[in-house]
Amino acid sequence: METLRLYLDKDRENSIKKAAKILKNGGIVAIPTETVYGLAANACDDNAIKAVFTAKGRPQDNPLIVHIDSMEMLGKVAKDIPESAYKCAEKFWPGPFTMVLKASDYVSKSVSAGLSTVAVRMPSDEIARAVISECTLPLAAPSANASGSPSPVTSEHVIKDLDGKIDAVIMGERCSVGVESTVVAIEEDNARLLRPGAVTAEMLKEIFPELIVDKAILSQPDSDEKVASPGMKYKHYAPSCELFLVEGESEKYCDFVNTKKDGAAICFKEEAELIKAQTFVFANQSDEKAMAFELFEMLRKLDEKGIKKAYVHAPSKNGVGLAVYNRLIRACAFRVVSV
Ligand code: TXA
Ligand code: MG
Repeated sequence: METLRLYLDKDRENSIKKAAKILKNGGIVAIPTETVYGLAANACDDNAIKAVFTAKGRPQDNPLIVHIDSMEMLGKVAKDIPESAYKCAEKFWPGPFTMVLKASDYVSKSVSAGLSTVAVRMPSDEIARAVISECTLPLAAPSANASGSPSPVTSEHVIKDLDGKIDAVIMGERCSVGVESTVVAIEEDNARLLRPGAVTAEMLKEIFPELIVDKAILSQPDSDEKVASPGMKYKHYAPSCELFLVEGESEKYCDFVNTKKDGAAICFKEEAELIKAQTFVFANQSDEKAMAFELFEMLRKLDEKGIKKAYVHAPSKNGVGLAVYNRLIRACAFRVVSV
C-alpha cells in the first residue's frame, strides 16, 4: 500500500480530517504525541487492531495503550475506576502518563491481548488530541516503530520503519519528551510502576507513598516469568549496533573507553574531550530530560553511521533518568559493565 503523507504546515485542518476519516474507516495512521509517534487505530475495531499488530510485527500477547481526549471517554473504556485513578488523572492528564485499569467491554478484546485490564492515556499533544476529537473514538496506539527497534520521535523515523505498511502518517514535529509514557497499574490504594517515563517515580510517590517499582524495570525477567507488563519481556529499543551500558564515575568511564581498541562512546558533554574514540554526545550529565529527548534519535544515529559497537555511560536513575536507564538497559540487551 502507499502510505499517505499528511502535512500540517500546508493544510492542517484538512490533514486532521483526513486522518480521522481513515481511522473511522478502519485504517491505521501514525500520529505525533508528546512522547513518541503512535500508530493509531480505532480501539473498538478488531480488524484495525489486528492491522496494527501486523504492520509493527508486534507479538500478539503485548497489549496496546488506548488514547482518549476526555474523562467521559475514560468512563467508557474502563470500569470500577478507583478514586486514586481520578487523583492521577487530575494531576498528570493530559500528559505522558498511562493507567492500567479494569477493562469494560467497549474496546476490542485484542487491545488488551487477553488481559482483563486496559491501559489508558490522555495525551497533551495538540495534534493527537485533535485527531481523537475529530474521530470521537478512543484510539489504540503503540509506538509507531517496527517492533524491537528504537521508538520513533520524528515522522522520518516512522517512514523509515513503516512506509508502505500503514495507511498514512501525520508529518508533525519532533516529539518533545522523547521517551514513552509512564505506565502505572492502579491497585486500589496503591500503584505499581510498570514503565518509567516523564511522570517520575518521585512525582507518583506524592499520591502513592508506598509505590511499588516493578522489578522488571531494571532487570531481565526470566523467560518463564509472568510479568505485569508484557512489553517488558521483549527485546526492545535495540539498534543493530552492539551496546554496553557502563556504570561508574566519569573518570573511570573515560579510562575504560580509552583502553578499548574498538567501539564508539556515547558519553556526556563534559566527557567528550577526554575520550579518544569516536564520541556521540548525549547531554549534560545532570540533564536527564535532555537525555530522554536525545535517546532514540541517538540510537538510530548509531546504525546510520554504521557503528558496530558502542559503550554508553549510564545515566543516574533519578527523575526521568530512570526512564532513560530502563530503555538503555534493554537496548544493551542487559550487557552492563561496572567500572
Ligand atoms: O507514550 C506512549 O505510551 C506511546 C504513545 C504512542 O502514546 N505508546 C506506547 O505504546 O509506548 P507501546 O505499545 O509501545 O507500549 C505500551 C506498553 C507496553 O509495555 C505494554 O506491555 C504496556 O504498555 N501495556 C499495555 N496495556 C497493558 C495492560 N493492560 N497491562 C499491563 N501493561 C500494559
Ligand atoms: Mg513501543
